Amino acid sequence: MVGSPEFDAYQRFILSAKLYWTGPMFRALRETYRHRLSLAPKEMPPGPERVAALLAGEPDAQIFCWMERHLQRFKYSGRLGLVPAHEEARAAIEAALNAPLPPGLLELDPGFEVPRYFRAVDIHQHPGGIWSDEIAGAVYERGARSTTPLLSKDLSLHERFTDLVLALRRPRRLLDMGCGFGKSTKPFYERCREAEVLGIDIAAPCLKLAAQDAAAAQARNVAFKQRSADATRLPDGSFDLVTSTMMLHEMPPPVVEGTLREAFRLLEPGGLMIHLDFLPPEEDEFLTWIHYGHGRRNNEPYMEPLARMGIGRVMEAIGFREVRIEPFEEMEGALARRETHWRFPWAVVSGVRPAA
Ligand SMILES: C[S@@+](CC[C@H](N)C(=O)[O-])C[C@H]1O[C@@H](n2cnc3c(N)ncnc32)[C@H](O)[C@@H]1O
Repeated sequence: MVGSPEFDAYQRFILSAKLYWTGPMFRALRETYRHRLSLAPKEMPPGPERVAALLAGEPDAQIFCWMERHLQRFKYSGRLGLVPAHEEARAAIEAALNAPLPPGLLELDPGFEVPRYFRAVDIHQHPGGIWSDEIAGAVYERGARSTTPLLSKDLSLHERFTDLVLALRRPRRLLDMGCGFGKSTKPFYERCREAEVLGIDIAAPCLKLAAQDAAAAQARNVAFKQRSADATRLPDGSFDLVTSTMMLHEMPPPVVEGTLREAFRLLEPGGLMIHLDFLPPEEDEFLTWIHYGHGRRNNEPYMEPLARMGIGRVMEAIGFREVRIEPFEEMEGALARRETHWRFPWAVVSGVRPAA
C-alpha cells in the first residue's frame, strides 16, 4: 500500500492541506488576533493567556486548531494513514530491520523500561508512539518527511544544525542524545570520519533503523545504544561534544534537568553541549500561544513546560558557562517568515563545561 498511487494521493492531499494551514490560515488568524487586540481593554496583561481570551470562540481560531490536530491524525490513521499503510509491508520491514549488522554497531537492552512519561502519551499523535511497535521507526521516518510542511523535502534542517555545530567544534568523541532513527546523527558521522560518534535513544524500533542505515552507508565510526539521556551509564568525561535535536521537548522538566546534569558529567572539561529544540519568542504572545497550543493539539505535553522552565538558569546552576539560547533558522529566511507562516520556534541551547 505504501507507494501506491492511492496512498501517495492521500498523503499529498494531507500535505497540501497542511501547507494551506501553515500559510493562509495562519495569516488570517494573526489578522483576527490583531483586530481583537486593538479592541481589547488596555489593562489586559500581555501573554499567551490574553491571546487565548481574545480568540476564544473565534471561528478562525477554531478551524486553525482543528486542522492542526486532525491533519496530523489523518496522516497516521485511517485506511490510507501511515500506520495501516505500513502494516501490509510489516514482514519485509521487520526482515530489513533485523538483518545482521556489523558487531558493535547496535546495542539494545532487552530489559529496558521505556519511561512512563513517554508511554503515557502517543507523541506526535503517532498511534502507539514510536517505541511500542517493531516497525514504528519506519513509520516515523516516513511521517517525519512532512512534520514541518515548509520543509517537506526536509533538505536542510539537520545539515544546517551540523554546520553550526561543526563551526564551533570539531569533535573527537560525540554523543547524539535522542538520536531517533539516526537523522540527526548521520550528518555528524558522515562529515566527521575521524570522530567516534555514539547515538543513544530509548526507542528500540528507531535505533534499529538508525543502525541499518549506518550499515548501508558503511559507516565505521558510529554506534547506537538503547540508553536514556538522563542515565546513560557511560563513563565520566567521555565526550568533547554532546548534542541533541528535537529531544528536550519530549521530556518533562525533571528529566530535562537530569539530562543536562548527565551531559555535564559526560563532557570532558572544556567540552560543549548543544541542543536544537523549540523555545517560543517570549516577546511575541501570539507565537507563544500558537506554540503552547501546538503542544496540546499534537500530543506533545512537555513543549510548554520546557519553554517555561528557564533552561538557561538551570544550566548555569549545574555549572555550565557561556550559556547561550539563540533562534535558529531551519531554512534560508525562516525567521523573517515567522510573521506570515506557521513554523516551529527553533532555538539552539548551548553551554560549555568549564575547564577544571
Ligand atoms: C523528535 S525525535 C528526534 C530524533 C532525532 N534527533 C532527529 O532529529 O530526527 C525525539 C527523540 O527523543 C527520544 N527520547 C525521548 N526521551 C528520551 C530519553 N529520555 N533519552 C533518550 N532519548 C529520548 C525519542 O525516542 C525520539 O527518538
